[in-house]
This record gives sequence, structure tokens and C-alpha cells, in this order.
Amino acid sequence: MSSVTISLYGMSDSSSIILDAKQLSKSFGGLKAVDNAQIQVKQGSITGLIGPNGAGKTTLFNLLSNFIRPDQGKVIFDGEPIQHLSPHKIALQGCIRTFQVARVLSRLTVLENMLLATQKQTGENVLQLCFRRGQVKQEERDNKQKALSILESVGLIEKRHDYAGALSGGQRKLLEMARTLMTRPKLILLDEPAAGVNPTLIGQICEHIITWNQEGISFLIIEHNMDVVMSLCDHVWVLAEGTNLADGTPTEIQQNSTVLEAYLGD
Ligand SMILES: Nc1ncnc2c1ncn2[C@@H]1O[C@H](COP(=O)(O)OP(=O)(O)OP(=O)(O)O)[C@@H](O)[C@H]1O
Ligand SMILES: [Mg+2]
Repeated sequence: MSSVTISLYGMSDSSSIILDAKQLSKSFGGLKAVDNAQIQVKQGSITGLIGPNGAGKTTLFNLLSNFIRPDQGKVIFDGEPIQHLSPHKIALQGCIRTFQVARVLSRLTVLENMLLATQKQTGENVLQLCFRRGQVKQEERDNKQKALSILESVGLIEKRHDYAGALSGGQRKLLEMARTLMTRPKLILLDEPAAGVNPTLIGQICEHIITWNQEGISFLIIEHNMDVVMSLCDHVWVLAEGTNLADGTPTEIQQNSTVLEAYLGD
């Protein structure tokens, strides 16, 4: 492979960076899945993360969200280091991720899946449950209202009483995305939102991402579908063999010979 090209994206104005990860590494046995990688996401952006199969993209997501502990590296989210926090705490801070294969609870209904995502409920504390029954009931009503309104906006309202396991693969991805909205996210990490999804639903998912982004949510999106990457992303990072290969605008990345070479070698 020829020379590595890393731009100074975002370096001039660090206050506008919502996620800043540096020198991240993770080995599995002798395999360096992520090798001294960095990534930054600008506040308010839709940022892409691409790379050939096995490049380390999902592992990088696992490191960013602490589902896997890095061998080394630093992750700053919204101005605070987060690598010592549990995935649940990171989600509470507003950085929430989805999975390459959607993780919904198949034997719960669509609505129940949405409600499970709610956080800091008074009812989770037994003492508060006894003394503040009215507040608990009100929270439950508010959460249900919010869940129904999100399901309505993504077109899953008719399915609210269906088991999540009865949804199509694409609808399950949509439900997983919709569920992230229950927790007031600042940044959503999406692992291949378009994979295995029919073209009509891909179009709808892209429209939802644009709408949520306009409402102030930043996105980091792993995606192999280049039409999706090119149409959604402001900036794209390329990973190959666990290391940064390039980053730039979608057009710059499309024309980058090093990137093309990495894909052709796939
Ligand atoms: N838990 C694990 N144990 C051992 N090896 C792993 C583990 N997770 C990932 N790997 C390996 O690390 C490398 C990077 O995998 P990763 O899933 O991060 O790639 P990816 O870029 O997401 O690929 P894809 O585009 O196919 O989803 C691969 O060689 C993979 O087999
Ligand atoms: Mg992956």
C-alpha cells in the first residue's frame, strides 16, 4: 500500500469535536484488529467509517463504546474521557451505539423494546416506588407517549404490539435505531444501518438519519453501501488492516488512489 494520508480534520477547532479517539489498539491473540487508530467526529456531523471486510471497524466501535477494553488509547466524548466508564454509563452520557446484527429482544413487543431503553426511571428504585407512586405513573405515561411518538415517526406504529422477532431484518435495524432516541442521545454510532435492508427501507432510514441530525444529533456510521455513505456523510474515515488509511470529504475519499487500492485488494 502507498502512503497514508491523514488530514488535520477538526484539529483547528477542538471545541466542535464531540468524539475524539486517539492511539486506540486492540489485539486478539496475534491479530492486531485495531492498531494505533484515531477518529474524530465533529459536533453536528454525519461522519462515515468505511474500510474493507475485517478492517477493524466494528472492533473500533466496541472500543469507543467500551464493549471491549482497548489495549491502549484515549476516548474523549463531549469533552470528558470515557474509556473508564461502562457501556451503560457511556450511553447515559449520550453516546449510544447499534450493532451490526440488530440486538432487539425478539420475545418482547416492539413497544416493550422501546420502553426498556428508558433510563433513570424513578420506578427502578424500590423506596421511591413506594413514596412517589404518582411520579412513577407519570414517568411511565410520558415514556409510553414518547415511544409511541417515535414509533409513529419511523413508521412502526402499526407493529407496536407485534413481537420484535416477527419484524423483518430491516425493521429490526430501524427499531434498534428508534430505541436509541428514547435516551436523548448526543451521538449515535450506527454499525451498517443499510446492510440486509431493502432499498425502500434504506431510503427511509437515510431520511430519518437526516431528520435526527437536523434536530442536533451527531452520527458516526459504519457502512459498506457507498451510495448511503456518499449521500449522508460530511466526512469519511477509512480504516484498513486496523489502521487509518485516509480521511476526507466523500468526494476526496472516492478519488483517493490509496483507498481504491485497499478495496481492490479486498
Ligand atoms: N472477538 C474477537 N476475537 C478474535 N478476533 C476478532 C474478534 N472480533 C474481531 N476479530 C477479528 O478482528 C478483525 C477485525 O474485525 P471487525 O469485525 O472489527 O472488522 P470490520 O471492519 O467490522 O469487518 P466487516 O466489514 O466485515 O464487518 C477481523 O480479522 C476479525 O476476525
Ligand atoms: Mg463490522
